[in-house]
Amino acid sequence: MSIQVSPVTPILAAEVSGVDLSSALDDATFNAINDALVKHSVIVFHDQDLSPEALIDFSRRFGPLMEHVLKEALLEGYPEIYRLSNVKKDGKPQGRSNAGQYWHSDLTYEPNPSMGSVLYGIEVPDVGGDTLFASTAHAFETLSAPMQDMLQGLSAEHLFAHAFRGGANPAARKGDPLAERPEVQHPVVRTHPESGRQCLFINDGFTVKINEVTPVESIALMAFLNAHMTKPEVVYRHKWRPGDVVVWDNRALVHRGVGDYSGEQHRHMHRTTIEDTATAHH
Ligand code: OGA
Ligand code: MN
Repeated sequence: MSIQVSPVTPILAAEVSGVDLSSALDDATFNAINDALVKHSVIVFHDQDLSPEALIDFSRRFGPLMEHVLKEALLEGYPEIYRLSNVKKDGKPQGRSNAGQYWHSDLTYEPNPSMGSVLYGIEVPDVGGDTLFASTAHAFETLSAPMQDMLQGLSAEHLFAHAFRGGANPAARKGDPLAERPEVQHPVVRTHPESGRQCLFINDGFTVKINEVTPVESIALMAFLNAHMTKPEVVYRHKWRPGDVVVWDNRALVHRGVGDYSGEQHRHMHRTTIEDTATAHH
């Protein structure tokens, strides 16, 4: 197989063509895909057709898979697959509807956060329901040297329930049963184990505070960093087509959903989450 990688913006995202992800990929092809992911942080494949098994097999090439804390959203028989869906069965959505409507990186509230996620769009709205991505490596690299130096030694608290208890976008964060995961601590700046780039590692969704500064300083510093990371001119906006598979590097970006589509429009997706076995965790 010969794959082509075409960058979408100068900062992040690339389209990868010439590969059928449902087939068994040889090592050279998989390595080219992983290289594209490390270089561009988010890679897009069009026109794919993946059974649950095929999605799991492809995802496992990157590493062991993680099970999401929201059990009711998992696909029956396939706990590795987390469903994003507003399609109702017996009056209930078949997965999470409106997942991740705030800037975040997946599973940073876990002691060992994730390396990446694979999201497969099965049914998507005609318009709306895009996903936004912003590079936390580019964000760190575009800070001044004194600001970079100050951030190096800091740590932050992350908590799953934080995303659901009010904040920038309370409408998207109400009503979830979430005392289940205790808070965890992570460095504010992490070195990407494959690219060697330093990346900011805080996010609006799950990061409660920066530990070593005063509460008021933490609020101001996080507001500045979150705004800096997600400026419109650095964001890649993915407009979904049915059959798209998007793989993103949770070590090197933040992302969010946009719940701007009508409930009549179906949005039904399968996601896997890959464990990070390479970054040093504290
Ligand atoms: C996710 C996520 C956003 C979206 O699946 O991790 O944040 O647009 N999804 O569905
Ligand atoms: Mn997410």
